[in-house]
Amino acid sequence: MTNTVAIGIQWGDEGKGKIVDLMAPKMDVVARFQGGPNAGHTLVLGDKKTVLNHIPSGILHDDTLCLIGNGTVVDPFRLVEEMDMLLDAGIPVAERLKISDRCQLILPYHRTLDAAREAAKGEGKIGTTGKGIGPCYEDKTARRGIRLVDLTSPDLGARIDANLEYVNFMLTQYLNAAPVNRADVDEALELARARLLPLAADVPLILQKRIKAGDQILYEGAQGSMLDVDHGTYPFVTSSNTVAGAALAGLGVGPGQVDAVLGICKAYTTRVGAGPFPTELYNAEGMCDAKNAGKHMAEKGHEFGATTGRPRRTGWFDGPVVQHAVRINGVTGLAITKLDVLDGLDEVKLCTGYELDGEVLESIPACCSQLDAVTPIYETLPGWSENTFGATAMDQLPANAVALLRRIEAVCDCPVTMLSTGPDRNHIIHL
Ligand code: GDP
Ligand code: IMO
Ligand code: MG
Repeated sequence: MTNTVAIGIQWGDEGKGKIVDLMAPKMDVVARFQGGPNAGHTLVLGDKKTVLNHIPSGILHDDTLCLIGNGTVVDPFRLVEEMDMLLDAGIPVAERLKISDRCQLILPYHRTLDAAREAAKGEGKIGTTGKGIGPCYEDKTARRGIRLVDLTSPDLGARIDANLEYVNFMLTQYLNAAPVNRADVDEALELARARLLPLAADVPLILQKRIKAGDQILYEGAQGSMLDVDHGTYPFVTSSNTVAGAALAGLGVGPGQVDAVLGICKAYTTRVGAGPFPTELYNAEGMCDAKNAGKHMAEKGHEFGATTGRPRRTGWFDGPVVQHAVRINGVTGLAITKLDVLDGLDEVKLCTGYELDGEVLESIPACCSQLDAVTPIYETLPGWSENTFGATAMDQLPANAVALLRRIEAVCDCPVTMLSTGPDRNHIIHL
């Protein structure tokens, strides 16, 4: 039995959707445990592309039950839109999906607050996805959040009134922004009541029954370890724990019920939004390396956000970041994605460590200003001109690509168990 947590271990967009979708046929259940519509997970089969925000990436498969756990934050408008998009594509989503009655609702005032706070920060903004994620998790921790189950609660109206009084004071008196209308909030609540409440369930109960029956469970993360609110590049992070450990609290399962942790990472690095990025080569603000390798990654890898469409910053594979992620997640195997994007580069670099003030560091600094100041130590490997796109076996790869993988394994002290060579579900090598 292998109940596996599959997580991103860089700054998000590592290809989690693709990897989870291809693993899903062997899984009985795929469960999301944190994040919300800030996530954009892309699934490709032939010429059909599906982008999911809340819904687990197992949803395209007939026999896979999909669960949205209590650790997630759900926007009724966005989730219903996502369900309708799947319905239009012929996927009987309501038959395959259950939502934890304990998950938090993102309401219109969360999105308004997110935007107003970012605007007020000006240059120092985080570059959030603008989906209301931070304010919603804040309300959860402050114990004023509205959960799916609260739609049935007699004091719901009074709680919304109290929240709106506070939020509208913040918006108008502190953030110089327009207040939120009660009618917009009511519309979201009505939609949730009509479309989401019928799917509400006790997710831990379902999972325990499935685990007892010997079913295979895949726990799907969102974002990446460097965006974790504790272990990432704080404050340039998201507002949830994104690490493997969060799967337990975010779904209500025990530590003994996870057998493996799959760390998904690109063969290079990308980041969208602000914050430190030691191996950065290229960004939309005009940064570019002499050999245009970063631009090559951005263009060949189509590095634009699946949720916001923003261009992603690109750079070389960062060994210290992945070493850190292997430690904090207990990663048992790596899934390396987008190897094909490196095709055609005459050389490929791998960061094996950081130097700060003349000293080689043993791990990545917790402080962003120090992380901004590190000098990456690079190893340069010869590139390859051959095409690896769509390769399905190791013997189809050029020797230099194999050499890069072996160095990644050695530097990160973790075996590569999967290698992705294109966006399609079938572009995969199992090692
Ligand atoms: P996620 O958020 O981790 O699910 O990743 P995204 O879907 O946001 O971004 C990954 C992008 O890379 C998507 O457009 C995928 O279709 C694409 N992708 C995934 N794996 C590969 C790969 O091995 N090669 C190429 N060329 N594209 C890939
Ligand atoms: P997936 O699941 C990449 C980033 C935002 C911003 C920071 C905080 O597709 O990998 P938030 O809206 O969460 O408050 O934004 O986190 N971010 C992501 N970057 N992929 C994601 O999700 C992300 N979700 C949030 O760009 O820097
Ligand atoms: Mg994404």
